[in-house]
Amino acid sequence: MSNKDLNAYNIFDLRDIALKRVPRGLFEFMDRGTEEEVSLNNNRAVFDRLRFRPRTFVDVSKRTQETTLFGVKHKMPLVIAPTGTAGLMWYEGELALARAARAAGIPFTLATGSITAMERVADEAGGELWFQLYMWPDRSLSHELVNRAKAAGYKALVVTVDGVSSGNREYNIRNGFTIPFTFSVGNVFDMMIHPRWLLGTMMRYLVTTGMPMYANYPAAAKAKMTKGPMGRSSLRTDSISWDDLDALRKIWPHKLIVKGVLDAQDAAMAVDHGADGVDVSNHGGRNLDGIVSPIEVLPEIVDAVGKRATIFMDSGIRRGSDVVKALALGANAVMVGRSTLYGVAAGGEAGAARALEIYRDEIHRNMALLGCNTIGELGPQCLQFVDSQLRPPSLPRKALRAVDSKAAG
Ligand SMILES: Cc1cc2nc3c(=O)[nH]c(=O)nc-3n(C[C@H](O)[C@H](O)[C@H](O)COP(=O)(O)O)c2cc1C
Repeated sequence: MSNKDLNAYNIFDLRDIALKRVPRGLFEFMDRGTEEEVSLNNNRAVFDRLRFRPRTFVDVSKRTQETTLFGVKHKMPLVIAPTGTAGLMWYEGELALARAARAAGIPFTLATGSITAMERVADEAGGELWFQLYMWPDRSLSHELVNRAKAAGYKALVVTVDGVSSGNREYNIRNGFTIPFTFSVGNVFDMMIHPRWLLGTMMRYLVTTGMPMYANYPAAAKAKMTKGPMGRSSLRTDSISWDDLDALRKIWPHKLIVKGVLDAQDAAMAVDHGADGVDVSNHGGRNLDGIVSPIEVLPEIVDAVGKRATIFMDSGIRRGSDVVKALALGANAVMVGRSTLYGVAAGGEAGAARALEIYRDEIHRNMALLGCNTIGELGPQCLQFVDSQLRPPSLPRKALRAVDSKAAG
């Protein structure tokens, strides 16, 4: 399948194609939030509270979105976020995502809960690979994963700290998409009426490697998806502490990123404990409902640690304009979760590549229309703040061309 065949002109088109191809239970597992989905919806709505203020008569003919992260140049200010079930959306979906990231010149983050083993992703896809880690009650099992990631050549460790308990996702139970997976009349029917997914993904696993499993789990915890105990919550610890970060810092020699920070003090603590970067994230609105959106706290986190750490932001990004707004507020790069997952669910590697191509084009166009030549030129001066909350705290008032409603009134 070529990129053009997908007939997708934005991320929402890819979502529509994915919706038709994968079983509804799986689609909702990927697409939805938690409880009332307030966080999920706010993650999108919050971007409307930021408006652009472009400059004109600027020669932008040589503009570039090249971005340097930890001393390495990347072609776009984007990183593919870890998403545990990519390998269920498409046969070996993690390989598809990693290859698309490599071709686009950006890093790919492999999740602890992926279906394809981290060594295979490194051998068969290559590129700049990062590994996402959950802490388990038995810390030695998590440290075993860290050592495997080190041996396989992963360049950054992304420690997720906002998942000490799984989110309350009632639709998964209703749809029969729980882990351990159990076959029911409902979910078998759901699979049967999606034959492209059934034959191209599930049957392909069944006739090759058998029922998909969490390939990165240590032997002690590894099991096929239909066998227990497999619930992620049974393997994740809710007793995480800063000592865990200290221990990881000791055994991980490369870049260390803490994912799921929403508080400036936590961000400062993470950096004090050795983190090289923080990802300001609410897990795509999938864990705690009613939580702040990352973009709402990004300015204060940039203010607190922006000079001594690399700042990522994720949750709710669907457009190049969202990326540009996050960068203008001080993020060094953004992570995208569902966007490339919709792509891979819609068309495998070609779909993921299409998602990244859409972002590249949208960012390129937005930079032109804003009058910016480099990512470094993006700053709060590019934005109008409809309310004062999103405004960077350290920015002198008169440096802003923006006037928020309170200041104006
Ligand atoms: C289906 C799915 C699975 C995810 N699995 C993980 C995971 O295993 N580890 C993790 O740190 N984050 C996980 N996330 C969260 C993403 O890394 C990211 O924070 C989130 O998707 C960003 O929001 P967005 O989807 O709106 O871009 C997952 C997200 C989705 C949608």
